Amino acid sequence: MTDTTGWAVHPHQFWLRGERPAERVSFDAEKGLWNVYGYEEVATVLADPKTFSSAHVNDLFPVDVPPESSAGNLLDLDPPDHRKLRNLVSKGFSAKVVADLEPRIAALTHELLDAVEGDRLELVDGLAYPLPVIVIAELLGLPAADRELFRDWVDVLFSQKNDITTTADKEQMEADFAVQNEALAPMFQYLREHAAQRRKDPRDDLISALVRAEVDGERLTDTELVNFTTVLLVAGHITTTMLLGNTTLCLDAHPDQRARLRADRSGIPTAIEESLRFLTPFSVMARATTTPVVVGGREIPADQLVLVSLAAANRDPGKFADPDAFDARRDPNPHLGFGRGIHFCVGAPLARLEGRIAIDILLDRFPDLRVDPEIPPTFMPSPFMTGVRTLHLRTA
Ligand code: HEM
Repeated sequence: MTDTTGWAVHPHQFWLRGERPAERVSFDAEKGLWNVYGYEEVATVLADPKTFSSAHVNDLFPVDVPPESSAGNLLDLDPPDHRKLRNLVSKGFSAKVVADLEPRIAALTHELLDAVEGDRLELVDGLAYPLPVIVIAELLGLPAADRELFRDWVDVLFSQKNDITTTADKEQMEADFAVQNEALAPMFQYLREHAAQRRKDPRDDLISALVRAEVDGERLTDTELVNFTTVLLVAGHITTTMLLGNTTLCLDAHPDQRARLRADRSGIPTAIEESLRFLTPFSVMARATTTPVVVGGREIPADQLVLVSLAAANRDPGKFADPDAFDARRDPNPHLGFGRGIHFCVGAPLARLEGRIAIDILLDRFPDLRVDPEIPPTFMPSPFMTGVRTLHLRTA
């Protein structure tokens, strides 16, 4: 078992301590929701969007979420709307588009690491945050120089320590929602302005492609465009930031595995998959039942909030041998870190490529790279995210 005792991860994430859930599917009466932890059960839920809807999740909270907040948001759509929008974005992330980014990602990684002074590197600030955010900004056609703005906006979304519950006080939830909306308003305005510019003056970027795109003969509305772009911008960087930090941390905890990778870089993609299994960046996905259904022997009524735990499923001993050990050579590794089914992560090829290139270059440039023993890593505060927030390294 990999020793993670020094890692200050959120205490809700019991699987990170090597603990197993008491039940594979369980009802949490206090929070008014179901937790699905077993691998097979999680896979069953994700394979059935008709019974386990993404679009109805917001209906289950005691707060009125305006429907326009979900318009164009892939994560909040069910078929057939989901398929139509997903087809639009899939082209922007085709294997060819992603593979062509390799030289740019490598150049950016070197550029960022060239700026490292002395023998210390805070990995998140120095590389793991800026690299993916510059790449996604360039793909979308947003000025990469605005990246600190994106960071402020996204931090609002992800610095929340609140739990998900359907039983919370309506007034409190409405107040939280209002604070979040107010903080995000400048981001929506910013994206709206960029979309308007591209309507007038299209270029060779993803926002221009979305502006031109038609679904059933109709163009996307401004709101759909802004929400669509928000998902790409947000999902497109914070998770990859965690992936880079987590992989570096796991390799540091296993110097023997790191030495092997250093000697044979062809193992990096396999190590990255193991990092996604072992420290799954988005640990939980939400779905709403549309009809009564039996999962793992438990009957879940209709209109229930179901939290599927990708992270706990990724530690299921029924699926993975020795699940609490980080094994950079684990193969096959059918982890659920990118989800499964119709919502499977659109950006997975890009995240994998960024991960491979960045880890390869880090190994090349810093033969003595190690976690600073005097400054322990910090982790994302959200109970639903597993990823380093700061990772101080010594380069010599
Ligand atoms: C969907 C994880 C990187 C864009 C998802 C889902 C997961 C996930 C678990 C499934 C959501 C669900 O089932 O409800 C990750 C992880 C990443 C990563 C762990 C990095 C390590 C990216 C990148 C992009 C991206 C780089 C974009 C450039 C998206 C989008 C969806 C999605 C647009 C929605 C797909 C849909 O609903 O059809 N991601 N993601 N992700 N991801 Fe990622």
